[in-house]
Amino acid sequence: MPKLVEEIAQRRTFAIISHPDAGKTTLTEKLLLFGGAIQLAGTIKGRKAARHATSDWMELEKQRGISVTSSVMQFAYQNVTINLLDTPGHEDFSEDTYRTLTAVDSALMVIDSAKGVEEQTIKLLEVCRLRHTPILTFINKLDRDGREPIDLLDEIEKVLQIHCAPITWPIGRGKFFKGIYHLLDQSVTLFEPSKNHIATAGRHYTQLDDPELLNQLGAAQLDELKTELELVLGASNPFKVEKFLAGELTPVFFGSALNNFGVKALLDDFVTYAPPPQPRPTTTRMVAPNEDKFSGFVFKIQANMDPAHRDRIAFLRVCSGQYQKGMKVRHVRLNREVQIANALTFMAGEREHTEEAWPGDIIGLHNHGTIQIGDTFTQGEDLKFTGIPHFAPEIFRRARLREPLRMKALLKGLVQLSEEGATQLFRPLSNNDLILGAVGTLQFDVVSWRLQNEYSVECHFETVQVATARWISCNNEKKLEEFKRKAFNNLALDGAENLTYIAPTKINLSLMQERWPEIQFFATREN
Ligand code: G4P
Repeated sequence: MPKLVEEIAQRRTFAIISHPDAGKTTLTEKLLLFGGAIQLAGTIKGRKAARHATSDWMELEKQRGISVTSSVMQFAYQNVTINLLDTPGHEDFSEDTYRTLTAVDSALMVIDSAKGVEEQTIKLLEVCRLRHTPILTFINKLDRDGREPIDLLDEIEKVLQIHCAPITWPIGRGKFFKGIYHLLDQSVTLFEPSKNHIATAGRHYTQLDDPELLNQLGAAQLDELKTELELVLGASNPFKVEKFLAGELTPVFFGSALNNFGVKALLDDFVTYAPPPQPRPTTTRMVAPNEDKFSGFVFKIQANMDPAHRDRIAFLRVCSGQYQKGMKVRHVRLNREVQIANALTFMAGEREHTEEAWPGDIIGLHNHGTIQIGDTFTQGEDLKFTGIPHFAPEIFRRARLREPLRMKALLKGLVQLSEEGATQLFRPLSNNDLILGAVGTLQFDVVSWRLQNEYSVECHFETVQVATARWISCNNEKKLEEFKRKAFNNLALDGAENLTYIAPTKINLSLMQERWPEIQFFATREN
């Protein structure tokens, strides 16, 4: 088999989606434990704490109890290279999350067995549905009193509109949680709380009538399990790979991430069934991963990721071909050839320089202000990957400096932080204001905190009479010039120098749209 095809077949790129507190961090840690990427449970939290010491703005993340950054981790399991893209959980960051989900081939949904389907899960699943992303489900915290498993499946089907096919089934729950039954293997793995912090498989039985199993569970619980299984097998959907790959059916696993229980069954089936890197749409054609020529797109940018390096990293998903250190590629938007000398990979969160990368992998490019979210890189071809949008912000504030002499530093900070895409900078044509737009108010706190810590600029944000923004386009040059003259006071340039209409009120926007039918007002833009 050609090396490219082999590498593609051995890759899985996915993200975990969940409502905060469902157990995403804990499960990530256990997956890394199985992958041998970390040796001891607790390392992730430990590392988080170590990072706080060096990167103060993470303190904000700690104070608010949210995850602001979204990271990439690569690890290996059973000859498969797994790329796990972390998605920020807080609703303010849905845009960033949205774009991260464009870079995966499947998603793992984590649900708290006591809470069921929660608000954030619903939103994230909607995004996955848009792209028909295959979803696996892990129902977590079975060691705690939770809801009936059947009810949970029912809720997932009703609320999330996706069929459920249980792959494992819990034996008891809460205090009586004893293990899981694997419906495809027809085997039982017993829960041994004290032993599950290491990556062992647990006690395993391949026969329900194994006398030792009877001994372990007791007649009453074993009978209950058999009755429940009959019910489940009768009432639930069988697992069909095609339906899973089409995003219509989700295989469901039960367990306890904290106890590292049920995680191995999940991971084993994940590497078996989750899709390898898939073809990606562009403005002109679909790009298949096994095409010889390299291509990829940037779905995320992060400034000052590592304060020791003071750099800005663009995260690029490789879509086809192979990345090789030092290769020359075309930056399609700028129509310029660039050399990628020092791309990074993210081995379980640690950054390392990489010699090569394959479809499905995420590489980090050093960004000196020339790379934007959504940018495509190819080996010559003029194409652009689609589906990585910017959304018009809904909340606007004017930046006000405490020391007027720091204006240059403020502008630099706002431009660089806006490259990350969580906020957008608008500079009105008619004055020197710096107006920041965001989807959630929390972003303004994050930005002023980071300005102070990363750029030594003290600034605060004050309200400004802007209700919404629209990107402007018009085929008629003369009309556009006339519009620019008439609407001059409400026009601005965004961070990428695109013309934007900043509307003082929504009514004003509707009036303008009515008055100027030749002008197009876009609520989203793709570069
Ligand atoms: P998140 O990333 O989705 O926000 O969730 P995270 O993993 O941080 O887990 C949220 C809380 O749920 C944590 O407790 C974690 O220990 C707990 N948890 C995760 N999986 C399980 C499980 O299988 N069983 C039980 N009983 N608890 C689980 P915390 O008290 O908020 O944090 P910590 O002090 O333990 O770190």
